[in-house]
Amino acid sequence: KLPLTIASDLLAWYDVHARQLPWRAPPGTPAPDPYRVWLSEVMLQQTQVATVIPYFEAFTRRWPDFRALAAVEDGELMAAWAGLGYYARARNLLACARVVANDYGGALPDTEEALRKLPGIGAYTAAAIAAIAFGRRAVVVDANVERVVARLAVLDTPLPAAKPEIAALTDGITPDDRAGDFAQAMMDLGATICTARAPRCMLCPVRGECAAFARGAPEQWPQKAPR
Ligand code: ADE
Repeated sequence: KLPLTIASDLLAWYDVHARQLPWRAPPGTPAPDPYRVWLSEVMLQQTQVATVIPYFEAFTRRWPDFRALAAVEDGELMAAWAGLGYYARARNLLACARVVANDYGGALPDTEEALRKLPGIGAYTAAAIAAIAFGRRAVVVDANVERVVARLAVLDTPLPAAKPEIAALTDGITPDDRAGDFAQAMMDLGATICTARAPRCMLCPVRGECAAFARGAPEQWPQKAPR
């Protein structure tokens, strides 16, 4: 079990240090547009934040909502996607936009269960959208979160075997309130401070609750599987 103070310490840090990303609502403003959250999460599935930003800006300028995107021709979408890679994502993106436009009146459903049934939306993306766009309590675990949690808890099981334990530990510290901010704070922490090779623990808002920091060698977690 991880200390429950992690969430409040992390959220206080996020209030000051959140990365300003175009799909996020500015701090203190209402929840971001679900269309923008969905589009960003699909683009970010296998592509880095810095690469995604200009594509996200171009897509949202050209196609501001589900209905606009649903009306695009396949070839036009594939051309706009060129450079992002993993083209199955683009096909699923269009399929999903068409389902939302045709079956859901142009508005994304707001539960993890319904989201998971849509093309291109797996467990991670459904949890991320439910939390970030709809304020639902959902357990959001990506590769950054896995590394952060493995360090907080000094998990001795290597990935991917540690995934169920990491999900349970993340569940244990996910707040009822602000689950979307919490998830994005974990991602930002992993991307900017709790990095794989050279974590910057002196800037970390939760180093006091981190067992790997206490051991003095945070980069040793997550443990590597013997090969
Ligand atoms: N990676 C995937 N989703 C993200 C988000 N919402 N913020 C930052 N990095 C992410």
